[in-house]
Amino acid sequence: MNSITLVCLLLCTGVSSFRFEELTQYVNSHEEEFIETLRQWIAVESDSSDVTKRSDLHRMMDMTAEKLRLVGGSVEMVDVGTQALPNGSSIALPKVVTARFGEDPSKRTVCVYGHVDVQPAKKEDGWATDPYELTDIDGNLYGRGASDNKAPVLAWIHTVEVYKALNIDLPVNVKFIIEGMEETGSNGLDDMIVAQKDSFFSDVDYIIISDCVWLSRRPALTYGTRGNCYFFAKVEGPKKDLHSGVYGGTVMEPMTDLIGILDKLISPSGKILIPGVREAVAHLSDEEWKMYQDIEFDLESYKSEIGLSQLMYSNKVDLLAHRWRHPTVSIHGIEGAFSSPGTKTVIPAKVIAKFSIRQVPNMDPAVVEKQVTDYLHSVFAKRKSPNKLNVTMVIGAKPWLADPKHPLYEAGKAAVKRVFAVEPDLIREGGTIPIARTFQDVTGKSIIMLPIGGFDDGLHSQNEKISRYNYMEGTKLFIAYLHEVSQIKKY
Ligand SMILES: *[C@@H]1O[C@H](CO)[C@@H](O)[C@H](O)[C@H]1NC(C)=O
Ligand SMILES: *[C@@H]1O[C@H](CO)[C@@H](O)[C@H](O)[C@H]1NC(C)=O
Ligand SMILES: [Zn+2]
Repeated sequence: MNSITLVCLLLCTGVSSFRFEELTQYVNSHEEEFIETLRQWIAVESDSSDVTKRSDLHRMMDMTAEKLRLVGGSVEMVDVGTQALPNGSSIALPKVVTARFGEDPSKRTVCVYGHVDVQPAKKEDGWATDPYELTDIDGNLYGRGASDNKAPVLAWIHTVEVYKALNIDLPVNVKFIIEGMEETGSNGLDDMIVAQKDSFFSDVDYIIISDCVWLSRRPALTYGTRGNCYFFAKVEGPKKDLHSGVYGGTVMEPMTDLIGILDKLISPSGKILIPGVREAVAHLSDEEWKMYQDIEFDLESYKSEIGLSQLMYSNKVDLLAHRWRHPTVSIHGIEGAFSSPGTKTVIPAKVIAKFSIRQVPNMDPAVVEKQVTDYLHSVFAKRKSPNKLNVTMVIGAKPWLADPKHPLYEAGKAAVKRVFAVEPDLIREGGTIPIARTFQDVTGKSIIMLPIGGFDDGLHSQNEKISRYNYMEGTKLFIAYLHEVSQIKKY
């Protein structure tokens, strides 16, 4: 075939008809409008952890549904039941909003997941601006929920809106599933996904999650998250707290026992001492090592960001590997311990340690539960203490891992290249996004995490923001991504 025939084939078959320039022009000319919508969304205090804010949260779900309807989606608000409160009463959970754009069976169907609830925020926490009033400072848009996850959700809705406004057919069918309880554990969502597995999800090919951030200024695709097993270890002794002057020296103290066994979980250099845990971890392949080597990551700025002069590992690959693909033990607190300012000479009668172990492939939370329980009991037995130890696992969230060579990721790489003219970093998250694993286990669909948030957006923290650049270029990324996904061959 000569080149003239090839050019003709491309033009005549419409392969080259992606009108990316026009679509991005539309984004550029509607920047202020897109920011205004974000401003209205940020103004809603949709804090899912505070039950007194529940009416705001319901309003946020209504606004989300309304916006999707305005863009022309078939929208449903799915009742996912009630939430039990500690005092025995219950309140309605925010409805889950689903939407559908297009039903062309010859096209692929993607489902975008996002959330519009937020972490708590008060000006007094140390915010420089009112957290619920979007404030533009030097091109950064400050406000609670800006990056996590309101701007990414809006960027996805705007993506559909831009195609529609220009009368360009969506290259794929697009569905949305937007929840309002993510920040407190996605209450009600798991059951809904199970219930709609064969209805809403039946024609979905791929699930897209944009609820994370880049690692540096370079755009990234995320292909893994760690899970988490959370434990309570309770040591109980005397029937009441004791005075250390009166009883000290005559009793084996629960706190001493507890500290003694906690110290056996992990060595100072980060080696997990629980038998069997390290052995379960998937081997770091040469290929993976090489991938990590290519990632843009500056150890010095990481150190200065957290205010430490020394880290556990001094080279990039080890550090990233231990942040993303190795387990670790973190000790979070001790309930019942004296922790107020000042001195108190008490021997607490009962103390409960809280610690967690980040999960990676191929660890299994059920196995980890037994390994930890057996090990702590054996360590405790050596102390020959009359106190009682009880170890329970209260959360067992599995890790999630995708294949970065999957066509979904190839599409992501192509979209990043088109918009940013660079190769994306392929990264993992050290944290847990349990819903990814639920989507994978329940629906069996392939998932991609396609972040647009900046590495310094301060999710969950004071002065959360997203930059105008990430919000607008992120919208363009999603526009390009839909096109790239439509190019994936049906097998
Ligand atoms: C339970 O707590 C909720 C939220 O704090 C409150 O609105 C409700 O009145 C309480 N119910 C009872 C029975 O105390
Ligand atoms: C340990 O504590 C859990 C939760 O409080 C309880 O269900 C379990 O029965 C206790 N186990 C033992 C051996 O006491
Ligand atoms: Zn989030």
